[in-house]
Amino acid sequence: MRAANCPDRKGRARRCFRTRGRGHFAEKFLISCYAPARGHSAKSRTEKGMVMKMKVTVYSCREFDEKELFIRYGKELGMELVLCPDAPCLENAGLAEGSICMDILTTPMTEELLKAFREVGIRYLVTRTIGYDHIDRKAAKKLGITVANAPYGPHGVADYAVMLILMSIRKMKRIIERTNIQDYTLKGVQGRELKDMTVGVIGTGRIGRTVIGNLSGFGAKILAYDLMENEEVKKYAKYAALEEIWEQADVITLHAPLTDDSFHMIGKDTIGKMKDGVILVNTARGALIDSEALIAGIESGKIGAAGLDVVENEFDMYYYDRKSDVLHNRELAVLRGFPNVTVTHHMAFYTDECIKTVVRDSLEGCRIFMEGKEKYAGQAGEEQRKNPWEVV
Ligand code: NAI
Repeated sequence: MRAANCPDRKGRARRCFRTRGRGHFAEKFLISCYAPARGHSAKSRTEKGMVMKMKVTVYSCREFDEKELFIRYGKELGMELVLCPDAPCLENAGLAEGSICMDILTTPMTEELLKAFREVGIRYLVTRTIGYDHIDRKAAKKLGITVANAPYGPHGVADYAVMLILMSIRKMKRIIERTNIQDYTLKGVQGRELKDMTVGVIGTGRIGRTVIGNLSGFGAKILAYDLMENEEVKKYAKYAALEEIWEQADVITLHAPLTDDSFHMIGKDTIGKMKDGVILVNTARGALIDSEALIAGIESGKIGAAGLDVVENEFDMYYYDRKSDVLHNRELAVLRGFPNVTVTHHMAFYTDECIKTVVRDSLEGCRIFMEGKEKYAGQAGEEQRKNPWEVV
């Protein structure tokens, strides 16, 4: 444990702690507190009916991109914010005392942790992500904590998926490596053209649909699969059974969530049914692909290339500087080493637009919750709507 001084809600210095873990937490421990000028702060009603200033405790707040946005939007919404760079844990739960809402990233929120936060008064938990599978929603419900997320537009991830497809078919990893060492030869880096290829898109929700729209401009033949068909998709793609996609696609790009059904949907058997030299792109969730089967497929030449923004068991590594650590993810080490596999650290979402949207909407949801309104008026003339970010 390491101690640091941080202000409490009255601005007094107090001790708070963080777990040192395995040395991969943010290097700088910082707690800052933003309070709007007197007379401008918004109020909310507590469970006992007392009126209090709207206060939100933000965990895992990144100083280099999120902090300024939190201060800006907090000010606009008249909120008091506690900005903590560390992930929520039992040791720093006390920071949330006096807040009804907390704002987190991808920390697994177990029943034990949720209980600790409920005890200090938390009733609304928002995650600055689309997925909320890291939160024990059953426990949250039992404890009376409302769970919300903050989705952002699909374009950032969709653009990224297309980039990984293009990088894979044009052998860009090898080209960049060669250029870096002044190897300007051509042998071994001949690419292919998308117009001659069939792309299989699995999952045609917000991101998958946008990928299909993007790909339509390249002239590729597009096959799509989803549990539910979407009319817009049919303008550019043909829905097909998974078997058909395995057999016909030159490129397969994944945009389905991780569920019991989709876990390892790409494994030894399915890879065996694919075209020789197939290219796999995953910007959805690592565990959709069985890493061991993927490695075997690449080693045998069955899989021609892969673009992986996500891998199995990435939690605890991605977004930390781990270059001096021995990591316990052999599959990732092997995959990174292949010349035809491009690995990035789960950052397809990471654009200016996305971060702005996530920070703003996470606070906006807190405001709606704290104001205790079922409905609120958005822009002038806009239809009244419920808190659109609540998921439980
Ligand atoms: P969405 O909920 O709009 O769409 C998901 C689609 O997948 C739905 O149409 C659903 O019917 C379909 N689906 C569910 N189970 C399926 C299955 N077993 N097989 C085929 N389709 C299935 O979600 P959205 O926003 O399009 O996101 C897709 C995924 O992308 C997310 O679940 C998340 O895992 C991932 N993601 C990755 C990011 C990154 O930075 N790499 C950022 C944001 C999301």
